[in-house]
Formats: sequence, structure tokens, C-alpha cells
Amino acid sequence: MIPVLHLIQETGNNSLSIEQMDEVASLLHILPIEVYEVATFYTMFNLKPVGKYVLEVCQTGPCMLRGSDQIIDYIKQKLNIQNGETTADGLFTLKTAECLGACGYAPMMQLGKNYREFLTPQKIDEILEECRNALR
Ligand code: FES
Repeated sequence: MIPVLHLIQETGNNSLSIEQMDEVASLLHILPIEVYEVATFYTMFNLKPVGKYVLEVCQTGPCMLRGSDQIIDYIKQKLNIQNGETTADGLFTLKTAECLGACGYAPMMQLGKNYREFLTPQKIDEILEECRNALR
């Protein structure tokens, strides 16, 4: 189910609709609730439209001890959005995530399929600029 959900999300508008999840349930001969359970459990699935870039900042203990709260606050202030929101230009969405298995590189976040590690406000500035430049 997970690879199918990824495929649908990647080929669509980077989110999953109820209709799409129902179709997955039908294809796999399972109940729709079983798909909803998976899609709502994993933070990599978006159940509402998101920006082109989704910043998923880990907020679990080791990352928190290394400053993830400050990183999250910095992103909120820099992009003028709250957790779960998308910038007005549709470029960035901020999400928080639980341990992403890279505690030794804390604080860290997932950006697309990549991990960005040892985050600082300066690194966040560089990453945001890198994303904007990728579109030029
Ligand atoms: Fe952040 Fe594990 S606590 S990656």
C-alpha cells in the first residue's frame, strides 16, 4: 500500500484525496479505513494540498535537545507561516515530524527525499534560497 500511495502522491499534486485513497482500497481489496489509517499515520503523506517544498522538522527528544524548537520558530518567522501551513506563494509548507532516525545529525529535517542535518538558522536560509534558485 505504501508504494502505491507514494506513487499517487508523487504523480498528483503532492497530496492524497479521499477518492484516491478509496481507489487504492478498491485496488488492494481492503477497506478504505485501512488506507486512511496508513495515510494518516505517516507524516510523509499529505492529506491536503502542500507547497512545492515540504519542510518536515523533527521535533522528537534528541532533535529538541539540539535546538529543533528554535529551528521551527525560525522557519515560522522567516516564512510567516505556522506549523501545517503553506506560504502564500505556494512554495513552502512547514510540518513537524517525529524521530526520522537521524538523531546523530540533530537537529534535522526531511526535505523531499533528502535529509538536511545539523540545522542552524543560517543553514535554513541557505536551504530556502537553494529551493528558490532551483525554480529559476
Ligand atoms: Fe530527530 Fe531522531 S530525534 S531524528
